[in-house]
Amino acid sequence: MDFEFTEEQLMIRQAARDYAERELIQDVLERDAKAEFPTRHIKNLTDLGFMGMIVDTKYDGGGMDTISYVLAIEEISKIDSSVSVILSVHNSLVCFGIEAYGNEKQKEKYLKTLARGEKIGAFLLSEPEAGSDASMQRTLAEDKGDYYLINGIKNWISNANSASIYIVIAQTYPEKGHKGINAFIVEKDSPGISLGPHEDKMGMRSSDTHSVMFTDVKVPKENRIGEDGFGFKFAMKALEAGRIGIAAQAVGIASGALDRAIQYAKERKAFGTEIANHQAIAFKISDMAVKVENARNLCLKAAWLKDQGKPFSMASSMAKQYAADIAMEVTTEAVQIHGGYGYVKEYHVERLMREAKLTQIYEGTSEIQKIVISRSLLSD
Ligand code: CAA
Repeated sequence: MDFEFTEEQLMIRQAARDYAERELIQDVLERDAKAEFPTRHIKNLTDLGFMGMIVDTKYDGGGMDTISYVLAIEEISKIDSSVSVILSVHNSLVCFGIEAYGNEKQKEKYLKTLARGEKIGAFLLSEPEAGSDASMQRTLAEDKGDYYLINGIKNWISNANSASIYIVIAQTYPEKGHKGINAFIVEKDSPGISLGPHEDKMGMRSSDTHSVMFTDVKVPKENRIGEDGFGFKFAMKALEAGRIGIAAQAVGIASGALDRAIQYAKERKAFGTEIANHQAIAFKISDMAVKVENARNLCLKAAWLKDQGKPFSMASSMAKQYAADIAMEVTTEAVQIHGGYGYVKEYHVERLMREAKLTQIYEGTSEIQKIVISRSLLSD
């Protein structure tokens, strides 16, 4: 068993760390306050090769492994998880979904441009009545011969405005339940697509989240991903991969909060000494570090399984559930260690706490991950 990273993995981690510590940190608070999209950063991260990083070089991607991806997402999330969610949805839901399940024509037409970062992707699964219960799709994709006609509403869509290419999950045969669902690649500028207002979120405020409305949107038949009725399984497969990205994000948020708590505890004095010298604080830091390390290892294990071509569904749900839950705990403790300073924006930990909350909710709540894990263990 080898716990060492390769030279390439270390280089990618360092490049992500350097960018986050040098550039993202400069305007992260301002973008959070203004809920402003990080246009400049996404352009720079594209130039650095982080959009499409895990796509095969054959399709103009970076050809990197999932471990490198996890390391990059963690580093970026330590500073700014609004940026990492944009990368995560783009890379591990959209690019992975098309690369793994799209046909060659779809990869030529859509994956290459996504992998080069020329276009951003979004994944449209959630609906007003289909959140955790993803099979309850109300958006209809009627089969009209050589095209599908899509009508319905999607909500909580990350990258909804910034993306040009959508993967849309919709129901074609309502009587068949989840077996009637299809997945489509849809160009955002197709006539009939409109966006709801920017959601005023609690955290990850500089990523763009909107509802998306479809009114008689025509999608060519060739844009359906996989066989007729494959859409629900496609969505589940894409989410398996996506959850590794969100797990890495949660590890980064927790790890960023831990770093800040350590730094503060070594500087802040109370009762005649640095607060790090009080066991009440030192033990908190120890507990936080154990949790972060455990979460990181679960996340790397899931990434490793994926890279080995082994099943990783349960591992990605374990990583996502545990990392999200400890991110909430660790960031809350980081605020506590900072006392009153933790409750104001300048010290970043209150923002990290707000961001941690979202990791327990999106790409499947912590409870959904427990369903996936327990079903894997209890089936047969
Ligand atoms: N791989 C392949 N097939 C799978 C699968 C997987 N991982 N999981 C389920 N399936 C198949 C089952 O085998 C079954 O197939 P058959 O009927 O042929 O046997 C079918 O799918 C239905 O499975 P279930 O009965 O288990 O489905 P369910 O309705 O009970 O739902 C669930 C399972 C895990 C709860 C699922 O609904 C789920 O993951 N919900 C959460 C949705 C979610 O994560 N949404 C996030 C939105 S995306 C997002 O947040 C992105 C963003 O913007 C940041």
